[in-house]
Amino acid sequence: MIFINLIQTNLQTKQFGKEIEYYQRLESTNVEAWELIKNGEASHGMIVITDHQFHGKGRSGNSWFMSPSKGIAMSLILLEPLSPNIAGLIPLIAGIAMAKTLNNRGLSPKLKWPNDILLDKIKVGGILCESKISAQSVNGMVVGMGLNVNETKLDFPDEIISNTTSLFIESGCSHQRELIVGIFTTYFERCFEVLQNSPEEIISEWTSFCGHINQKVSFRFRGILQSGLFKGIDNFGQARVMIDGNERMFPSIVLD
Ligand code: BTN
Repeated sequence: MIFINLIQTNLQTKQFGKEIEYYQRLESTNVEAWELIKNGEASHGMIVITDHQFHGKGRSGNSWFMSPSKGIAMSLILLEPLSPNIAGLIPLIAGIAMAKTLNNRGLSPKLKWPNDILLDKIKVGGILCESKISAQSVNGMVVGMGLNVNETKLDFPDEIISNTTSLFIESGCSHQRELIVGIFTTYFERCFEVLQNSPEEIISEWTSFCGHINQKVSFRFRGILQSGLFKGIDNFGQARVMIDGNERMFPSIVLD
Protein backbone atom coordinates (compact mmCIF):
# COMPACT_ATOMS: atom_id res chain seq x y z
CA MET A 1 0.00 0.00 0.00
CA ILE A 2 1.21 3.48 -0.83
CA PHE A 3 -0.38 6.38 1.04
CA ILE A 4 -1.06 9.29 -1.30
CA ASN A 5 -1.60 11.77 1.54
CA LEU A 6 1.88 10.90 2.87
CA ILE A 7 3.39 11.67 -0.54
CA GLN A 8 1.56 14.99 -0.57
CA THR A 9 2.74 15.83 2.95
CA ASN A 10 6.30 15.48 1.67
CA LEU A 11 5.88 17.61 -1.44
CA GLN A 12 7.18 21.14 -1.70
CA THR A 13 5.93 21.87 -5.19
CA LYS A 14 3.67 24.33 -6.98
CA GLN A 15 2.30 21.95 -9.57
CA PHE A 16 3.96 18.55 -9.64
CA GLY A 17 2.22 15.84 -7.64
CA LYS A 18 -0.84 17.94 -6.86
CA GLU A 19 -2.80 15.18 -8.58
CA ILE A 20 -1.87 11.56 -7.94
CA GLU A 21 -3.38 8.49 -9.57
CA TYR A 22 -2.69 5.46 -7.38
CA TYR A 23 -3.28 1.85 -8.39
CA GLN A 24 -2.78 -1.18 -6.19
CA ARG A 25 -1.64 -3.23 -9.22
CA LEU A 26 -0.80 -2.08 -12.69
CA GLU A 27 0.93 -3.41 -15.80
CA SER A 28 3.08 -0.28 -16.19
CA THR A 29 2.75 3.27 -14.86
CA ASN A 30 4.06 4.61 -18.20
CA VAL A 31 1.39 2.70 -20.15
CA GLU A 32 -1.31 3.92 -17.75
CA ALA A 33 -0.03 7.51 -17.98
CA TRP A 34 -0.43 7.43 -21.78
CA GLU A 35 -3.91 5.97 -21.38
CA LEU A 36 -4.88 8.84 -19.06
CA ILE A 37 -3.45 11.36 -21.54
CA LYS A 38 -5.35 9.73 -24.42
CA ASN A 39 -8.62 9.87 -22.47
CA GLY A 40 -8.14 13.53 -21.50
CA GLU A 41 -7.90 12.56 -17.83
CA ALA A 42 -4.31 13.66 -17.22
CA SER A 43 -2.97 16.99 -15.98
CA HIS A 44 0.50 18.54 -16.19
CA GLY A 45 2.56 17.34 -13.22
CA MET A 46 0.29 14.38 -12.42
CA ILE A 47 1.91 11.37 -10.72
CA VAL A 48 0.86 7.85 -11.68
CA ILE A 49 2.05 5.33 -9.12
CA THR A 50 1.45 1.71 -8.16
CA ASP A 51 2.36 -0.66 -5.34
CA HIS A 52 2.76 -3.59 -7.74
CA GLN A 53 3.91 -3.03 -11.31
CA PHE A 54 3.86 -6.44 -12.97
CA HIS A 55 4.95 -5.67 -16.56
CA GLY A 56 7.25 -2.68 -16.22
CA LYS A 57 9.02 -1.30 -19.29
CA GLY A 58 12.76 -0.67 -19.29
CA ARG A 59 14.95 1.07 -21.86
CA SER A 60 15.69 -0.49 -25.25
CA GLY A 61 12.70 -2.84 -25.09
CA ASN A 62 13.90 -4.46 -21.85
CA SER A 63 11.53 -5.22 -19.01
CA TRP A 64 11.80 -3.65 -15.55
CA PHE A 65 11.37 -5.72 -12.40
CA MET A 66 9.63 -4.26 -9.37
CA SER A 67 9.23 -6.13 -6.10
CA PRO A 68 5.61 -5.56 -4.92
CA SER A 69 5.30 -3.26 -1.89
CA LYS A 70 9.08 -2.76 -1.74
CA GLY A 71 10.12 -0.72 -4.76
CA ILE A 72 8.89 2.46 -6.43
CA ALA A 73 7.34 2.54 -9.90
CA MET A 74 5.96 5.93 -10.85
CA SER A 75 5.49 8.20 -13.84
CA LEU A 76 5.30 11.97 -14.06
CA ILE A 77 3.14 13.44 -16.81
CA LEU A 78 4.36 16.55 -18.67
CA LEU A 79 1.74 18.17 -20.87
CA GLU A 80 3.21 21.60 -21.54
CA PRO A 81 4.74 21.80 -25.04
CA LEU A 82 8.55 21.59 -24.87
CA SER A 83 11.07 22.68 -27.49
CA PRO A 84 13.09 19.70 -28.77
CA ASN A 85 16.28 21.14 -27.17
CA ILE A 86 14.69 21.27 -23.73
CA ALA A 87 12.94 17.92 -24.19
CA GLY A 88 16.28 16.18 -24.81
CA LEU A 89 17.41 17.25 -21.35
CA ILE A 90 14.35 15.97 -19.44
CA PRO A 91 15.84 12.49 -18.89
CA LEU A 92 18.86 14.21 -17.38
CA ILE A 93 16.82 16.28 -14.93
CA ALA A 94 15.04 13.10 -13.84
CA GLY A 95 18.47 11.56 -13.17
CA ILE A 96 19.64 14.64 -11.27
CA ALA A 97 16.43 14.69 -9.20
CA MET A 98 16.93 11.03 -8.34
CA ALA A 99 20.60 11.51 -7.45
CA LYS A 100 19.72 14.46 -5.19
CA THR A 101 16.97 12.43 -3.55
CA LEU A 102 19.39 9.63 -2.67
CA ASN A 103 21.91 12.20 -1.44
CA ASN A 104 19.19 13.58 0.79
CA ARG A 105 18.73 10.05 2.24
CA GLY A 106 22.43 9.86 3.11
CA LEU A 107 23.62 7.88 0.08
CA SER A 108 26.21 8.73 -2.59
CA PRO A 109 24.70 7.89 -5.97
CA LYS A 110 26.36 8.17 -9.37
CA LEU A 111 24.66 8.60 -12.72
CA LYS A 112 25.56 6.46 -15.69
CA TRP A 113 24.72 7.73 -19.14
CA PRO A 114 21.96 8.11 -20.17
CA ASN A 115 20.00 7.66 -16.97
CA ASP A 116 20.92 4.75 -14.75
CA ILE A 117 21.24 5.45 -11.04
CA LEU A 118 24.06 3.55 -9.37
CA LEU A 119 25.10 2.94 -5.78
CA ASP A 120 28.57 1.54 -5.37
CA LYS A 121 28.66 0.92 -9.17
CA ILE A 122 25.51 -1.25 -9.05
CA LYS A 123 22.18 -0.24 -10.58
CA VAL A 124 19.53 0.82 -8.07
CA GLY A 125 17.17 2.70 -10.37
CA GLY A 126 16.39 3.72 -13.92
CA ILE A 127 14.42 6.25 -15.91
CA LEU A 128 12.35 5.76 -19.04
CA CYS A 129 11.15 8.92 -20.80
CA GLU A 130 8.64 8.57 -23.60
CA SER A 131 7.35 11.44 -25.73
CA LYS A 132 4.95 12.37 -28.49
CA ILE A 133 6.67 14.63 -31.00
CA SER A 134 5.10 16.95 -33.58
CA ALA A 135 6.95 19.08 -36.15
CA GLN A 136 8.13 21.88 -33.85
CA SER A 137 7.73 20.66 -30.33
CA VAL A 138 7.33 17.75 -27.97
CA ASN A 139 3.65 17.58 -27.00
CA GLY A 140 3.47 15.37 -23.98
CA MET A 141 6.07 13.37 -22.18
CA VAL A 142 5.90 10.58 -19.62
CA VAL A 143 8.86 10.34 -17.25
CA GLY A 144 8.92 6.86 -15.73
CA MET A 145 11.06 6.23 -12.66
CA GLY A 146 11.84 2.86 -11.12
CA LEU A 147 13.78 2.56 -7.87
CA ASN A 148 14.64 -0.44 -5.69
CA VAL A 149 13.99 0.64 -2.12
CA ASN A 150 13.37 -1.99 0.56
CA GLU A 151 14.34 -5.20 -1.30
CA THR A 152 16.82 -7.73 0.04
CA LYS A 153 18.90 -9.75 -2.47
CA LEU A 154 16.33 -12.57 -2.14
CA ASP A 155 13.62 -10.36 -3.65
CA PHE A 156 15.37 -10.09 -7.03
CA PRO A 157 15.09 -12.67 -9.82
CA ASP A 158 18.30 -14.68 -10.47
CA GLU A 159 18.94 -12.96 -13.83
CA ILE A 160 19.42 -9.53 -12.25
CA ILE A 161 20.62 -10.38 -8.75
CA SER A 162 24.32 -9.77 -9.48
CA ASN A 163 23.85 -6.33 -11.04
CA THR A 164 21.00 -4.94 -8.95
CA THR A 165 20.90 -3.35 -5.54
CA SER A 166 18.43 -1.45 -3.35
CA LEU A 167 18.55 1.40 -0.84
CA PHE A 168 18.02 -1.15 1.94
CA ILE A 169 20.98 -3.29 0.82
CA GLU A 170 23.26 -0.24 0.54
CA SER A 171 22.22 1.63 3.67
CA GLY A 172 21.23 -1.25 5.97
CA CYS A 173 17.92 0.39 6.87
CA SER A 174 14.47 0.62 5.35
CA HIS A 175 13.17 3.78 3.72
CA GLN A 176 9.68 5.25 3.49
CA ARG A 177 8.68 5.17 -0.18
CA GLU A 178 6.21 8.06 0.11
CA LEU A 179 8.98 10.31 1.46
CA ILE A 180 11.26 9.36 -1.43
CA VAL A 181 8.51 10.07 -3.99
CA GLY A 182 7.83 13.45 -2.35
CA ILE A 183 11.49 14.46 -2.34
CA PHE A 184 12.07 13.23 -5.91
CA THR A 185 9.05 15.11 -7.25
CA THR A 186 10.10 18.29 -5.44
CA TYR A 187 13.63 18.13 -6.90
CA PHE A 188 12.19 17.30 -10.33
CA GLU A 189 10.03 20.44 -10.32
CA ARG A 190 12.99 22.60 -9.24
CA CYS A 191 15.20 21.17 -11.97
CA PHE A 192 12.36 21.62 -14.50
CA GLU A 193 12.26 25.34 -13.62
CA VAL A 194 16.05 25.68 -13.88
CA LEU A 195 15.94 23.93 -17.25
CA GLN A 196 13.67 26.63 -18.76
CA ASN A 197 16.09 29.46 -17.89
CA SER A 198 19.59 28.00 -17.69
CA PRO A 199 19.98 24.58 -19.33
CA GLU A 200 23.77 24.87 -18.91
CA GLU A 201 23.26 24.50 -15.14
CA ILE A 202 21.55 21.17 -15.80
CA ILE A 203 24.49 19.94 -17.89
CA SER A 204 26.95 20.86 -15.16
CA GLU A 205 24.83 19.29 -12.39
CA TRP A 206 24.44 16.07 -14.36
CA THR A 207 28.19 16.04 -14.98
CA SER A 208 28.88 16.45 -11.26
CA PHE A 209 26.93 13.22 -10.58
CA CYS A 210 28.35 11.28 -13.54
CA GLY A 211 30.56 8.40 -12.44
CA HIS A 212 32.50 7.88 -15.68
CA ILE A 213 33.84 11.20 -16.99
CA ASN A 214 37.17 10.62 -18.79
CA GLN A 215 36.77 6.87 -18.38
CA LYS A 216 36.70 4.24 -21.09
CA VAL A 217 33.15 3.27 -22.07
CA SER A 218 31.79 0.77 -24.55
CA PHE A 219 28.32 0.61 -26.02
CA ARG A 220 26.34 -0.47 -29.07
CA PHE A 221 25.27 2.23 -31.47
CA ARG A 222 23.15 1.14 -34.44
CA GLY A 223 24.25 -2.41 -33.78
CA ILE A 224 27.99 -1.63 -33.88
CA LEU A 225 30.18 -1.94 -30.80
CA GLN A 226 31.95 1.36 -30.05
CA SER A 227 34.43 2.23 -27.36
CA GLY A 228 36.14 5.42 -26.35
CA LEU A 229 36.68 7.97 -23.61
CA PHE A 230 33.48 9.50 -22.21
CA LYS A 231 33.99 13.30 -22.21
CA GLY A 232 30.56 14.44 -20.98
CA ILE A 233 27.31 15.61 -22.56
CA ASP A 234 26.55 18.41 -25.01
CA ASN A 235 23.80 21.05 -24.79
CA PHE A 236 21.24 18.65 -26.28
CA GLY A 237 22.00 15.90 -23.78
CA GLN A 238 23.99 13.78 -26.24
CA ALA A 239 27.06 11.87 -25.10
CA ARG A 240 30.48 13.21 -26.19
CA VAL A 241 32.83 10.31 -26.72
CA MET A 242 36.47 10.51 -27.89
CA ILE A 243 37.10 7.72 -30.39
CA ASP A 244 40.49 7.47 -32.20
CA GLY A 245 41.27 11.11 -31.41
CA ASN A 246 37.91 12.46 -32.67
CA GLU A 247 35.09 13.63 -30.45
CA ARG A 248 31.78 12.12 -31.57
CA MET A 249 28.21 12.74 -30.35
CA PHE A 250 25.84 9.89 -29.58
CA PRO A 251 22.15 10.25 -28.75
CA SER A 252 21.10 8.03 -25.84
CA ILE A 253 23.69 5.30 -26.14
CA VAL A 254 23.56 2.58 -23.51
CA LEU A 255 26.91 1.88 -21.90
CA ASP A 256 27.96 -1.73 -21.20
C1 BTN B 1 15.73 1.29 -17.38
O1 BTN B 1 15.69 0.38 -18.23
O2 BTN B 1 16.73 1.50 -16.70
C2 BTN B 1 14.55 2.17 -17.17
C3 BTN B 1 13.59 1.58 -16.20
C4 BTN B 1 12.35 2.42 -15.98
C5 BTN B 1 11.32 1.71 -15.14
C6 BTN B 1 10.20 2.59 -14.76
S1 BTN B 1 9.22 1.91 -13.46
C7 BTN B 1 8.01 3.12 -13.69
C8 BTN B 1 7.87 3.37 -15.18
N1 BTN B 1 6.89 2.47 -15.76
C9 BTN B 1 7.45 1.59 -16.58
O3 BTN B 1 6.85 0.68 -17.18
N2 BTN B 1 8.78 1.79 -16.65
C10 BTN B 1 9.19 2.93 -15.85
